[in-house]
Amino acid sequence: MKRIIFLFSNLMVFFVLVGVSLAAGLPLGLPEVPVPKDNPMNADKIVLGKKLFNDKRLSADGTVSCATCHQPDMAFTDGLRVSKGIKGLTGTRNAPTVVNAVYYSAQFWDGRAESLEEQAKGPLTNPVEHGLKSFAPVIETVKSDKDYRDLFHKAFGIKPDQITIDHVAQAIAAFERTVISGDSPFDRYQYGNDKNAMSQAAIRGLEVFRVKGRCVDCHTIGQTSATFIDNKYHNLGVGFSRIEDKLMDLVDAYQNSKHSEQEQDAEILSSESISELGRFTVTLDPSDLGRFKTPTLRNVSVTAPYMHDGSMDSLEEVVEFYNQGGEDNPMLDGGIRPLRLTEQEKSDLVEFLKALTSPEFAN
Ligand code: HEC
Ligand code: HEC
Repeated sequence: MKRIIFLFSNLMVFFVLVGVSLAAGLPLGLPEVPVPKDNPMNADKIVLGKKLFNDKRLSADGTVSCATCHQPDMAFTDGLRVSKGIKGLTGTRNAPTVVNAVYYSAQFWDGRAESLEEQAKGPLTNPVEHGLKSFAPVIETVKSDKDYRDLFHKAFGIKPDQITIDHVAQAIAAFERTVISGDSPFDRYQYGNDKNAMSQAAIRGLEVFRVKGRCVDCHTIGQTSATFIDNKYHNLGVGFSRIEDKLMDLVDAYQNSKHSEQEQDAEILSSESISELGRFTVTLDPSDLGRFKTPTLRNVSVTAPYMHDGSMDSLEEVVEFYNQGGEDNPMLDGGIRPLRLTEQEKSDLVEFLKALTSPEFAN
């Protein structure tokens, strides 16, 4: 995929517009934001994307917007184990934050959407999310609203009759490319040369994270920036016991059925068994069974509960899980082994994870 890095000065304008203070360019500790060539950023597109992201009219019963599950004041998550869409219907997966999602090379826990643009269409027609039968009502809603007509014209230079679902998705994606955050105590310590920015416990925790815990193998920290991701998929065993007994039947059934993208999206969020197949549903490669994408750890202290199924409530629980070597299963990732951390090392590690919270989400 061809991507360009958009200019520093443009970035400033965008962030002033969306209200993120960005005195010195990118927030400390973040790499440049990748922007696809066919969806260049412009200020009107971002305003439009933000409006669409928050618009409940784009759902079957007018009660759900993207922000219902990605709430800006909850670090763009919903605090639930698994998300609730229209009519209180629940899905199978925990809502990941949208903050810094732009750095993933694929979206969703299994990476089934290759871009933010592709991802943005999924929830609209998912029966347990926005619940629309097709994209037609979205286009009707925006065409019949003067504000939207003006914004689509300014953002894309198009007339109302030319608006398609791809424009809607592009605008939402452009907005999401501005939802980034860094400048945490860790960033100030690591990249800002402020040795007092993290507590002594967090500094010791960083050492555990790097060395004894081997967390950096997947949650990476770079020379000049850190995303805490590797853009890969791993099996830690979370939720795998839900499918272990019937694995071969599930694999056969899935490999032999045909699904459109929309059907696949609906199945994954409505069937726990299919959800647990993980990356396999995208590649149909049995070695991908139960593998999920490495999530960012930025702002992790304010985005509980954890893991793709939201099955862990606290960072202490997550650390204990890793300490035990994950959940044993035939597909367990080679990098997941018992760590033998002391009580002190476990609590230092948690302190370090808490130092990854950006100032705008700290309260
Ligand atoms: C009913 C709750 C709900 C609604 C509404 C919703 N999402 Fe999500 N979102 C989720 C869940 C759950 C996932 C994870 C699903 C998966 O991995 O299969 C997710 C995943 C994502 C991701 C991928 C992040 C990552 O780390 O991979 C992005 C980006 C995103 N949503 C944006 C949106 C946008 C844009 C909308 C509106 C068009 C939206 N969401 C509507 C619950 C919701
Ligand atoms: C082999 C790669 C790998 C290693 C090593 C690893 N992780 Fe993870 N981490 C993942 C993956 C993959 C997930 C998501 C798993 C899932 O949901 O099934 C995850 C999830 C998490 C989560 C939950 C985040 C959220 O938003 O739900 C936390 C916290 C976390 N890891 C911390 C750590 C810590 C601390 C260590 C070191 C002790 C560590 N990880 C080592 C790959 C790894």
